[in-house]
This record gives sequence, C-alpha cells and structure tokens, in this order.
Amino acid sequence: MKKSRENWGSRIGFIMAAAGSAIGLGNIWRFPYTAGANGGSAFIIIYLAFTFVIGLSVMLAEFTLGRKTHLAAVGAYKHHSKNWTFVGVLGVVSAFLIMGFYPVVGGWALSYIFKSFTGVLSDASAIGSVFEGFIKNPIQPIIWTLIFFGLNVVIVAKGIAGGIEKASKVLMPTLFILLILLAIRSLTLPGASAGIEFLFKPDFSVVTGQTYLAALGQAFFSLSLGMGCMVTYGSYISKKERLPLDALTVTALDTAVALLAGLAIFPALFAFGMEPAAGPGLVFVVVPTVFAQMGGIGIILSALFFIALSVAALTSSVSLLEVVAAYLIDQKHIPRKTAVYSIASIMAVIAVFASLSLGAMSGATFLGVGIFDFLDILTDKIFLAVGGLLLAIFVGWVVKKEDLERETTNEGTVKFVLFNVWYNIVKYIVPVAVAIVAVLGITSIEQKGVMFFGLGVIGVLALFSKKL
Ligand code: PHE
Repeated sequence: MKKSRENWGSRIGFIMAAAGSAIGLGNIWRFPYTAGANGGSAFIIIYLAFTFVIGLSVMLAEFTLGRKTHLAAVGAYKHHSKNWTFVGVLGVVSAFLIMGFYPVVGGWALSYIFKSFTGVLSDASAIGSVFEGFIKNPIQPIIWTLIFFGLNVVIVAKGIAGGIEKASKVLMPTLFILLILLAIRSLTLPGASAGIEFLFKPDFSVVTGQTYLAALGQAFFSLSLGMGCMVTYGSYISKKERLPLDALTVTALDTAVALLAGLAIFPALFAFGMEPAAGPGLVFVVVPTVFAQMGGIGIILSALFFIALSVAALTSSVSLLEVVAAYLIDQKHIPRKTAVYSIASIMAVIAVFASLSLGAMSGATFLGVGIFDFLDILTDKIFLAVGGLLLAIFVGWVVKKEDLERETTNEGTVKFVLFNVWYNIVKYIVPVAVAIVAVLGITSIEQKGVMFFGLGVIGVLALFSKKL
C-alpha cells in the first residue's frame, strides 16, 4: 500500500507546489488590506517576526510530521495515537469549509481578468458599484466560481506529480513575473514614495493588541498552517529532501510575494491619492480604480494583476482540495478521481450558497451571519488557531524528540544545527503564543453564536472522531 503512494517528482516541483499553497488570496488580497487597516509598516514588522519565528517553525513541524508517517493529515496523527486523530480531522473539516467560500473570491478574480477588457472597469467613479453589483448578482459570480472549481478538479484529479506539481511549476513563476512587473510600474509612478513609506517606515504608536492578533492570524493563514495542509504536502516529500531548508524557502517565498503585492499596490494607491484602509474591497475596487486612471496601459496591467490573483488563488485552493482528497484516498482507500469529483461537487454546492449569501440570499442567515461570513469566521478565527495550537502541542509534547531529530536530519545524514532552537520554539513558544492569540481572537468574535458553534464542533470531533 505505502509503496505505491505518490511522491513529488523533484525538489523544485515540491517547493513550487508548497509555495503555491501558501501564496494565495492571503498574500495579494488579504495582506494588503490587513496591513493597511493595521497601520502599515508597524504591522508588517510584527508580521515578519511572527512569520519567521512562529510560522516557519510550525511549517517545519508540519512537513516533519507528514514525511515521517508518509500519511496525510488524519493518518499522520492517527499513526501516533488515536486520541489525536481529531486534530487531523479538524484540519480536513477546515479545508472543506474554506473551500466553501475561498473559491467564490477565486471566481471574482477570474471574472475580473475579463472585465479588465470589457470596459466596465474603465470609469473610475463606477468601479465600486460595479463590484457591489457583480458580487450580489445571483448568476454571474456563481458561474465564475464553478469555472474556478473546474480548474481545481482538473488539476487535483491528475494527482501529485502529474497534476499539482506540474501546474505549480508553470503557474508560480508566471505569478512571480507578473507581480514583479506590476511592482516596477507602481514604484516608478510619480508620488510612489508615500506608498513605500507607508509600508516600511514604522510607526509603533498605532500598535495595539489587535495588531498582534491580526499579524499572527495572517501569518498562519498565509502560510497555510494549522489545518494539515503542509502535513499533507509533506507526506509526499522524498526522504532525501532537507526539510528545514524547504520550510525556509517556502516561508521566504510567501513573505516575498506578500511584500511584492504590497509594493504593487500601495505606491500606486498613494500616487493616485487613495486611501490604504479600504477593507476587502481593496483589490477589487481600489486597485482597478488606480488602473482606470492610467489609460490604455491600465487595461493590460489590470488584466495581468487579476491573472496573478487568480493563479495565486488556484494553487492555494488546489491544496485545500488535496487535503480532503488525500484523507479519502489514504484512510478510506477511495480512488483519487472518485474522491476529487465527489467532494469538489459538495464543496461547489456550499460555495454557490456562500456566493448567494452576499446578494440574493442575504436575508438567510445562520447564527446571525450569512454562509460566506460564517465559514470565514469559523475557519479563520477558530479552527486554524485551535488546529495550529494542537499541532504544536502534539509535535512538541507527544512525538518523541529523537524521532523529530532523525526526521529533520534525514536519519542523521545531514546537519540541522538549529534543531534544539526549533524544538524549543515548537514546544514552548508556539503553544503559549498561539494560545494567547487563539483565546483573544476567539473571545473577540462578535458573533457569539458562531463562536460557540465552532467550539462545539471541535468538542464533538474530539469525542467522536477516533474511528475516522
Ligand atoms: N495560504 C493560502 C493563502 O494565502 C490560504 C490557505 C490557507 C490555503 C490554509 C491552504 C490552507 O491564500
């Protein structure tokens, strides 16, 4: 059984796939507006510190766990102890639920590639209402979401090396080139320096507890941590790979792209005298408005920007679909294609309702919020935080230290000088830091119904998922 399990075809292929998972809407859509709303540079410094101390360590812990067992999220935990199976299950549930809303935004991005050419984005003053009208439309965004799902299914059904890796090897370099081009254009506009200052000149007077909360949440989301995604990708890594180096490379690429997205967006934004703190509409409203003011070249740049955004979203959603598919393949021995087609269909149905919850069905709420927001809060604010916390406790306190050392040094054949530093960070610092953030984050959720529901689901999973 284990012998026939797939692996990544090459180191670069794996790096591109893992970076593809990490680099997503989180970097290009969420990072800029979160940074904008939390004071820019001060947020970025805290974010960088969290990313390279906590995020990097957790990523290495996930890779190590996955490769050690050669099993995806659920199996990797179960292999050690049935009592911990539920942490893997929680990850699979999170991936499933994120796929209920993330592809909706992916669909928006796809449609904006085409909207760039149709002229609807050329009148700067109308762009806000175009976006509003579009996401509330009962049909159009759904069609784009389903197309986005179709792309996911085509890639994941082809498997690891032949599907995810192959697609990532083309898509990721394309993304890097597009973003570099956009950043160069943005940075060379007159007045761009205000944007650079906003990103890099720290003003700590704006830092509050909320800033730390947002920074750690963003680091986890952006690096695809806390839900078994990197455990799953790690389970396909060959025994020859140097895991610490891989984790560092993926973390560095993810951070570079977030900063690059900031450099593509903020200088242009300031050059055209617009507000940085524009919320989730930032890339769909403010960015096209900036492009509209550039004339003809703006059309091309806008299309390139939304191609980049779609690519980023696609390689991330592919990893979410893979987490659920890998569970069915590893634990239930369902053939890959059957697994992918069936779960993607169910996810697509949920996503259709999530899309409708922003418009035609906005009156239909559950625990006080529409489905889109419900899934977002449930996963991002509750499940990822609890998942990350439990992962760190599991790796730091349950898995044997010698086993971790053997796995991260490829049975002692390669050096990992910082092993003890990493081990202690995972064992002591990560659980404390993530626990604080999880408690503060979860208790600050305004929708208390969703909060109790989420905690209840975790409780139920903890009690009943031993057999899964
Ligand atoms: N990291 C992805 C992003 O930045 C989102 C994601 C989260 C993907 C969790 C997989 C798992 O958009």
